Amino acid sequence: MQGVSAEVLYYYITIITQYRQKNNILRKIIIQMNYRAEQGRHSCFRRINRGGIKVAEYIKTVGADIRGIGKYVPELTATNEDFTKIVDTSDEWITQRTGIKVRHITNGEPTYYIGAQAAKAALKDAGISAEDIDLIIATTVTPDFFTPSLSCLIQREIGAAGSMAMDVNCACSGFVYGFDMAKRYLQTGDGINNVLLVASEELSKFVDYTDRASCVLFGDGAAAFLLQKRGDTLYSGYMGADGNGAKYLVSRALRCENAFRTNTEEFDMQMPQTKKHYFTQDGKEVYKFATKALPDCVEKVCAKAGIAPAELDRIVPHQANIRIIETAAKHLKLPMDKFSMYIDRYGNTSSASIPLAFCDAVADGSIKRGDRICLVGFGGGLTYGGVVFEY
Ligand code: UT7
Repeated sequence: MQGVSAEVLYYYITIITQYRQKNNILRKIIIQMNYRAEQGRHSCFRRINRGGIKVAEYIKTVGADIRGIGKYVPELTATNEDFTKIVDTSDEWITQRTGIKVRHITNGEPTYYIGAQAAKAALKDAGISAEDIDLIIATTVTPDFFTPSLSCLIQREIGAAGSMAMDVNCACSGFVYGFDMAKRYLQTGDGINNVLLVASEELSKFVDYTDRASCVLFGDGAAAFLLQKRGDTLYSGYMGADGNGAKYLVSRALRCENAFRTNTEEFDMQMPQTKKHYFTQDGKEVYKFATKALPDCVEKVCAKAGIAPAELDRIVPHQANIRIIETAAKHLKLPMDKFSMYIDRYGNTSSASIPLAFCDAVADGSIKRGDRICLVGFGGGLTYGGVVFEY
């Protein structure tokens, strides 16, 4: 029975006592549960409903412990009213269609700088010094350079030289992917004890401020978690992507303009034509995708953890549009107050939106230690993903 907690053991004994006559089937189930626990796999455990008795909630497994959190947003802000001065829009339209009221916009501070401020706050909160960081994972779609990476620049800024440093670009799902990667590195126990996960985004860099359909949506900001390994806890991750939807959210990188090029024809990349690097999206297609992907992720990641969505204390979703969350909440048959929503104060900050919301929820007391949390994201790629854990 090695690798199984006392709580699960207790459930086993209860089951065996109650269903002595069905010992054979139960023995097989127990063997399977033990196998999974010993393999250190995810906490997958199908709920067995015999005679309406809940057999077990989940097998405790290895997870990621959030030791510290921190955020940083630029001082400069732009209200809906400010946007009425540059495009044909109104506070009423933006509020009703998206839930956004204000967003923070960089006044020239680079992405690595705001990320580093959030990282420093998370380190302070955790009581960990920068030299103790073993791995930095930075998530962004708006780095300052192709190279060096955002994570290397954050490392330089906070004084964490020597740690591993890498960037993850999964658009708005980036933080969820990064969280799961951090957990897997920590789980190996291979000298990785402290992971700094930083999301830093300056979407104002790629916003086309003449396009009213997209410019009102985005803001800049950064947030970070300091993660350590945690044994015997709730954890599951479910992630995926659908490259067939690549064309729906686009910001172009460099074009091919090398000195030897002879072919003047544009290669058909099956992507929309965009002005320079400016962001473009098919709002309706993304909306359709998001309202399906979000509840689907919550259901699947909860099923992997062996709990029902209703058993979560809080869901912290990617903050793109309040209406997407309302639709998802209906689909999941959950009240809106289970969702941590702060879109009114930040707009859509891509991969930073989930940790920013998490930080604010902890600050206002709506997320507390011991709560069962689901972080869930969706976005460009198309990508999607969720993680479930106990805070
Ligand atoms: O993190 C990235 C993931 N992205 C998303 O999740 C975005 C998902 N999509 C959405 O959130 C919504 O589709 C939008 C907020 C982008 C747009 O909302 P919508 O309800 O789908 O509006 P729409 O595109 O259907 O436009 C409705 C009307 C149009 O006018 P007509 O053709 O009906 O006369 C637009 O031209 O609203 C107009 N419109 C605006 N009006 C005032 C579009 N943008 C604006 C604006 N102000 N800013």
